[in-house]
Amino acid sequence: MRISKLLFTSFYLLTISGCQPSSQKVSESAEPQKNSSEVVAEAEPVDSTAAVSNSETALVVFEKRILPIFQAAKPSSCTECHLSGVDLKDYIHPSQEKTFASLVNAGLIDVKTPDSSKILKFINRRPDQPTIIIDKIRQLEHEAFQAWIRAAVKDPKLLAVKATESLGPQVPDEVIRHARKNRVLASFIDNVWTEVGRCAACHSPDKNQKQVKEHGEQVSWITLRDPAATLTHMVEAGIINTDEPLESLLLTKPSLQVEHGGGQKIVVGDRTYKQFRRFIDDYASLVNAKYTAADELPAESDEVSLVTEIWFKLTDVPAKFDKMLLQADLYRWEGEKWSASRVATADRLVFGKGKLWQHSLSLTAPRDSTLAGEMKSKRLPGGKYLVKLYIDQTGKLQKDFRAELGEEELVGQIEFESQWPVGYGSMTVVKYPDSSTSE
Ligand code: HEC
Ligand code: HEC
Repeated sequence: MRISKLLFTSFYLLTISGCQPSSQKVSESAEPQKNSSEVVAEAEPVDSTAAVSNSETALVVFEKRILPIFQAAKPSSCTECHLSGVDLKDYIHPSQEKTFASLVNAGLIDVKTPDSSKILKFINRRPDQPTIIIDKIRQLEHEAFQAWIRAAVKDPKLLAVKATESLGPQVPDEVIRHARKNRVLASFIDNVWTEVGRCAACHSPDKNQKQVKEHGEQVSWITLRDPAATLTHMVEAGIINTDEPLESLLLTKPSLQVEHGGGQKIVVGDRTYKQFRRFIDDYASLVNAKYTAADELPAESDEVSLVTEIWFKLTDVPAKFDKMLLQADLYRWEGEKWSASRVATADRLVFGKGKLWQHSLSLTAPRDSTLAGEMKSKRLPGGKYLVKLYIDQTGKLQKDFRAELGEEELVGQIEFESQWPVGYGSMTVVKYPDSSTSE
């Protein structure tokens, strides 16, 4: 027991504080790397611990075990679920009196039944599959707070202190909730993971042996069926760059802002670019603790989407639209009327020389609708459809990537029927409308 505690303590100092001088200073007064009862016992070699007053005990525990958490360079166990917004440090003040009084005042310490204190419950929250290292940190934090609270509630002097500080997170609950890791992952899946099917041929380890041979292991930035691992890797490899979000390779490579072995896959302002930016900008703001109020949080998109292997092609596209972004929105005939919202979309540059435009479709649906659930089949039912075509002729999206194409950019619409077969080899082909609007 003693040995394991001792190991934990040194592990704690090493891991959490990175052996910073500050944490050593705290333990200088007593012998470092021993737990409090040992220290107290040594200070009073003749008498037993009974001779030591409670206040001394609580203070020693506070200085030896709570302050190192406060001064640690590394984050606490809270960060296993919270990307930012909360940390155990937020609940500690360098002064024991101030820490105790404010935690009691905030209802986080229960002076009657110390072991039921809310702060201990906070610390004890564990994910279903905790990381071993963080779980050890969590255990240490819990032991430290429990030992200190047990000692502190017996000290009449501490109990008499009035709260002057208000400890705890500096941001409102909405910001804390937005920064929860499983929410962040859900946003990654919505905005990035649903699109990587487009990149899989060259970036997924089950398909890209040729690219790996030519360019090295780093081209395998997708982890098969594991969005969380993919996100972690992207951040570590700078594919998502939280210091310089716009330098993220996820944006600069496929948009050809830098050379890309796969050529141009997206353009600034198209739907994929918008989604990538929505995630990257938000992620960088979270990591850098940029949000301070609920109204600064980005709104979720009203629409969800999913890339499919259904291909759609337009022929006879006027050559003058060469290299302009064409967006095709599909509406489905519902027996009496067209669907209220688009059911699929695709946007890509026109290939003027070939007078054509083609792309794989992304299914779209209002968030939380039945249709959103059905999208997972990655199929479109056969039947009658209407496609509305928009072309960005003024470079509107380049100027403001958040802009949307609308009535002003509408160049025509076509009604047609398709069974929507899957695969590059069996595209649905439609002729560009030769009405006066398109010349
Ligand atoms: C196992 C995951 C997990 C761990 C670890 C965790 N929390 Fe949380 N935390 C949550 C959940 C779930 C919520 C509720 C958020 C929501 O409603 O969206 C939350 C919310 C909060 C809130 C906001 C208040 C509220 O009720 O919404 C605070 C403050 C907070 N946690 C503090 C902490 C602190 C401090 C730690 C570390 C000692 C910590 N949490 C560790 C999962 C966790
Ligand atoms: C036809 C193959 C191909 C496709 C499809 C493709 N890429 Fe690439 N990509 C490459 C090759 C080859 C490299 C390595 C050479 C280089 O860095 O440009 C690369 C490199 C990258 C890198 C740099 C990886 C690193 O860590 O160095 C990123 C990021 C990237 N691509 C993003 C994308 C995205 C996003 C998509 C999908 C929208 C995509 N690529 C689609 C071929 C492709």
